[in-house]
Parts: sequence; C-alpha cells; structure tokens
Amino acid sequence: MRYFKRYLVTSALPYANGPLHIGHLAGAYLSADIYVRFLRLMDKEVAFICGSDEHGAAITIRAAKEGVSPQEIVDKYHDLFKTTFEKAGISFDIYHRTSAEIHHQTSQDFFKTLYENGEFEEKESEQYFDQEAQQFLADRYIKGTCPKCSHDAAYGDQCENCGSALSPTDLINPVSTITGNTPTLKKTRHWYLPLNKYESWLKEWIENGKLDGKELHDPSDWKNHVLGQCKSWIDGGLHPRAMTRDLSWGVDVPKEIEGAEGKKLYVWLDAPIGYISATKEWAAANGKNWEDYWKDDDSAVIHFIGKDNIVFHCLIFPSILKAHGEYNLPYNVPANQFLNLEGQKISTSRNWAVWVHEFVEDMPDHIDVLRYAMVKNMPEIKDSEFTWKAFQEYNNNELVNNLANYVNRVVVLTNKYYEGRVPDFDENRDLVGALGEMETSYHDSELLGLFDKLHIYCDYLRKYDFRSALNILMEISSNGNQILQFNEPWKAIKDDEELVKVVMNLSLQYLAALGTAIRPFLPGTSDKILALLNLDSVKEKGELVKMMDELAEGNLLIPINHQIAKPDHIFSRIEDEIIAKQVAKLGAMTVEEDTTKPALKDNISFDDFMKMEIRTATIIEAKKVEKADKLLELQLDLGFEKRTVVSGIAEHYSVDEVVGKKVSLLANLEPRKIRGVESQGMILMAEGENGSLSFVSPDEGWPNGMTIR
Ligand code: 2FM
Ligand code: ZN
Repeated sequence: MRYFKRYLVTSALPYANGPLHIGHLAGAYLSADIYVRFLRLMDKEVAFICGSDEHGAAITIRAAKEGVSPQEIVDKYHDLFKTTFEKAGISFDIYHRTSAEIHHQTSQDFFKTLYENGEFEEKESEQYFDQEAQQFLADRYIKGTCPKCSHDAAYGDQCENCGSALSPTDLINPVSTITGNTPTLKKTRHWYLPLNKYESWLKEWIENGKLDGKELHDPSDWKNHVLGQCKSWIDGGLHPRAMTRDLSWGVDVPKEIEGAEGKKLYVWLDAPIGYISATKEWAAANGKNWEDYWKDDDSAVIHFIGKDNIVFHCLIFPSILKAHGEYNLPYNVPANQFLNLEGQKISTSRNWAVWVHEFVEDMPDHIDVLRYAMVKNMPEIKDSEFTWKAFQEYNNNELVNNLANYVNRVVVLTNKYYEGRVPDFDENRDLVGALGEMETSYHDSELLGLFDKLHIYCDYLRKYDFRSALNILMEISSNGNQILQFNEPWKAIKDDEELVKVVMNLSLQYLAALGTAIRPFLPGTSDKILALLNLDSVKEKGELVKMMDELAEGNLLIPINHQIAKPDHIFSRIEDEIIAKQVAKLGAMTVEEDTTKPALKDNISFDDFMKMEIRTATIIEAKKVEKADKLLELQLDLGFEKRTVVSGIAEHYSVDEVVGKKVSLLANLEPRKIRGVESQGMILMAEGENGSLSFVSPDEGWPNGMTIR
C-alpha cells in the first residue's frame, strides 16, 4: 500500500434525522479521524470531509412523525451533529450540509453531465403508490420481506440486514410505511443508471484493482468483508437503478431536462456528491484547488463508512463517478461492521444506545477514554460489543495503571532528582532493559528500537489496523514501566547516580515519543503529555515523520537540560457509581422520546375542527377485499342512510367481530376509490403501541347518526 501526496478522506454523511450514538462513532467517524490525524502527522495533504445528509425519506418520515417541517428537522440535527463531533474530537476540515446551495448546484450539474453523456435510461414503469397518502412509495416509504435474506423489515432501496440494494418491486409483501396499506401500482417516468452494463468493469476494478488496464488499487489492501459483499452482489447480477424520485423534498431534477417537474434526485445520488460539494466549499475558504483532491493521480479518495453503506460506496457511487468521466474512483472503502451494546443491538426506538451528544456533556473529561475503549473494541472485521464495564476496565487497568502511571512516575522523579531538568547521561552506561536483562548502551539502542516500533505502528495505521497500532503504543508505555521497575531509580539514587541519569533520560525520550505518536488516538492526552514535558503541542503538520527522522539519526527527542513541568494526573480512576449511572440510562426513555408524551401536531382553528362531520354508525355487513390482506369492505348504517367504507383493519378484526359494532365515521371525507370500491368516509380508530387498533365507539344503546364533536 503506497503513500499518496494527497488524501481526500470522507466519513459517511449522517442523516440529519435523529441523534448519533456510539455505533455511528465506531462505524464511520472515529477510525476516519484517527487515520486523518495520522496522515497529517506524516506530512500529507489531507481534506477530511463530512456533513449532514439532509434529503431522502429518512428526513421526511421523521418530520411527519414529529409534526414539523423537514427543514426544522435538518436544522436541529445538523447543529447538534456539528457541535457533538467537535466535542468528541472528530477533526473534520469541513462539516457541510446537503441543503447548501453549492450542493444543489453541484449535484444538478452532475446529473446534467450524466444525462448529456447519454448514461441514463429513461423509462416509464409501474411503481408502488399509496392511494390513501397519495404518494409514490420508494426507499424508506415502503417495507417488506427481503428477497435475499428474508429479513422482514427491508426498505424499498435496501435491506439493512444483509446490505443488499433493492428496488420496491423486489420486496415480498410490500406495505406502505405511511399508512400500513398494501400499495397499488401506478405509472411514472424515471432516469435509471444501467448498473447491469457496468458489471464487467466493476468486477475488474473491485477484484483486481484495475480500470482500463490501469492499476488503481491493490485489492489485498481492501477488507475481506467489503470485497466479499461486492463480489456477491456483482455475481448475483446488477440491475438498472432509478436515480430520481417522485418526492417533494430533495434536490430538484434540473429544470432544463424534459419531464423534470415534480422529480427529485435519488438521495443516494445526491448524498455522496455531497463529499464533492463540501470539498469545493472547503477549498474555496482555504485557498486550495478542490480538483487536486478528486482528480489528480497522486491523490487517494478514501471513504470511511458502516457496512450498511458498502453497496452505495463501492458500486453505485463509483459507477456515477465513472459515468461522469473526470473523477478518481475510491482507493479504499474501509467499512466497519456494527457495534453492539451490552449484549444487544443498538436500538434508537428502545433507547438502547449511548448517545454521543449526552456522553460529551456527561463525561467531557473522558472523551479519550471513549476513543480508547472504542478502538479496543472497534468492529473492524466483525461485529463487536461495547460494555460500560469494559470501558471502566480500560480506563482503570490500562490508561491509569499503565499509561498515566508511567507518565506520572517519570515526571515526578525528574522533578524530584533533577528539579525538572532532563539529565545528561553516560552513553556507555549499562542498564536493565524492558525484558529484565542487563544491556550495554541500552539507551541508544533503545532509541533505535523506538524507531522500529514506530515504523510498525505507522504500517498498522496505514493498513487501517487501528487496534494493533494502539497496542504498540501501550507496549512502549509498559516497556517504559518495566525499565523503571527493573532499574529502581528510587533505590539507585542513593549509590548509583549514573544509572538514574541514564534511566531517567531514556524515560523522558519515551514520553516525548508517546506524546506525539499517541495523537491520532488520544488527542487530548497527547496535549497533556506534551504540556507536562513543556514541549509544543502537536499541530498535526508532519511531526511524526520529523520524530522518526530524529530517532533514525540517533538524536534525542527532548534535549539535555530541558525544563519540564510539575506533575499532574492525565487519567483518574472511574468508580463503580459513575458506571452504574450510565448503565441505568440504557433503555430508559427521555422526556423527548417518552411515548407517554408524544409530539403533538400544530394547533388548528375551531372552524377547521367544525368542518368535520363525524357521526355515529353501526357496521351491518363486512367482507374481505380480494388480494388486500389489510382491507375490509364494510356497510354502515348511519340511521338516515347507508354507506360503503373500505377500512384497513383486516389484520386486527375478523369479519365476524366487526358486524354489529358501533363506530364513529368521518362522513364528509372526500370519497376515494380503494381497490375498485368507492369508500365513502373513514372509520375513526384509536391507535395503540405497535400499531394495535381499537374502535372509537359511542356507548351501547345510542342511536346511529348522532353528531360527534
Ligand atoms: O446511512 C446513512 O446515514 C447515510 N446518510 C449515509 C450517506 S453517506 C454519503 F454517501 F453521503
Ligand atoms: Zn436482506
């Protein structure tokens, strides 16, 4: 795996429809941040790009649920994400948003170029439509059973269980997520990307890293699970994919294109282009040329994502980029798997999650502990698990007992023996090494040893093996502790001052190395260690390369006589109560999410209310509607007349159960044809948890046709 001059590193743009939990952090943000900080320390030019994904059904569904506008939803979560990422130490060069004007422009230009290149197939087809909601059902507006893995809650564009890209018509037993109705079919026109035609180059590019005979990446650098998923999709056959939608929220299909009216870009077309529009915005503000990052041969594009986004970043977005013709394809897509929490899947609806915005408020001094615990348990190649107990143990056993203990001992002893100055030493002096053996000229050979270790450390980082890289740093710290332990400067100070000097000098060099090298993982800790050593904090401008050059030449990292600061603790123990408090929060509902306090719709006027004609009625006949699992056709007696009503209650009540029921009927609702039957009103139902339904009935014995208000 080679180094490039320049890197464009992206983290998946999170949907601005709900807060981020630690599973998100572990998936696409922390590893990207570590990688980017490492690249900066290696003196590479880097643009680290992210932003909010503000379009698509994820947003509009949430807005409808909360009874607010999509704009209100995206504004709320965009602001929350931006500050949360900053507090969690995720060092984006820009955190952008897809509602920005430059993004709408960039994605429309992209669409136009593909259109003009003749890349799209324009097709009329029958798509699922919700009669009641009067809306086409794409993406998250439709759910059903996945044809690939039988997961029963796959979305219209993707199964989040097996990651497959789907179309609504692939789903078995599709239902509208708006009304729960079984959808009908209706004709519409869209522009499709013919992925089926790209199969052979995609296969060659993914599996062999080659495109048009040019070597672009080494597939052995790609994670096996990423390659495996891509191969199985390509081998299973790709299908043309619609790049537009019939929606009211999103980026408009450019007006110049005939038939554009009412159509929006597919969110998975516009969102990844968000990486490009964000780069443009960042470059303009920082005197850079954005094209260098996307189009130059000596630039690598790397996408950090969670595994549910693999198909979009490895097949669909590369197809879009290639169809455009001017862009580099991603050099790597190091996707992570999922993080579980305390033995269960993270669940937003059950509040089984550690919310990042809450963590950064509750435990602002423990950001680096969280980063450490997450790296130790990062779902790099398989799903992994976060537990609060492990979080506590990583802190107490590794960060406090190993790293903080080492830092503290070195700083305390240097202050005690040398008034805080780095001691000079005899280069030929023997001392006991980390393995407990007497070594000659150990000091110098150990500096070279540090160089070797850091070299391995960089190699791990370069290959996205973050856990192994972090282990190297902790090994340096425990070796340092061993050297102190074996040589016992606190005893030797009485009769072997030369030994103490060489031990303490070496220990200070170790600390200086750690202070810089630990930066990608624990940026706050790096600042603290370097402040204790009275050295400049790391600016992430090539410091690791410079340090390795110094070590290779046998130079000291912290000079003789340099004055260090007074001791201070860099980590402290976390007690059981703190952990118990966090565990107790799991599964508990906050006021905002408490289902007993639902978000109510906006007020309406009294006049609006009085427009409704609600009457008591009795169901006198009922039958099932053919080929519609959810529908019953009912005859109602209103006293003064009879009505036919089609109602979506068949999964809750049998025909026999409903006949004779007293109900409330919204009698002046515009009649609608449902499955060929004219429905003349709507029966009011009370909806309970999990979608259970109950009739809203007048007391027994009251006549039909009474007005309800
Ligand atoms: O899965 C998600 O949360 C998507 N919003 C990720 C988008 S990544 C990119 F393509 F923008
Ligand atoms: Zn599936």
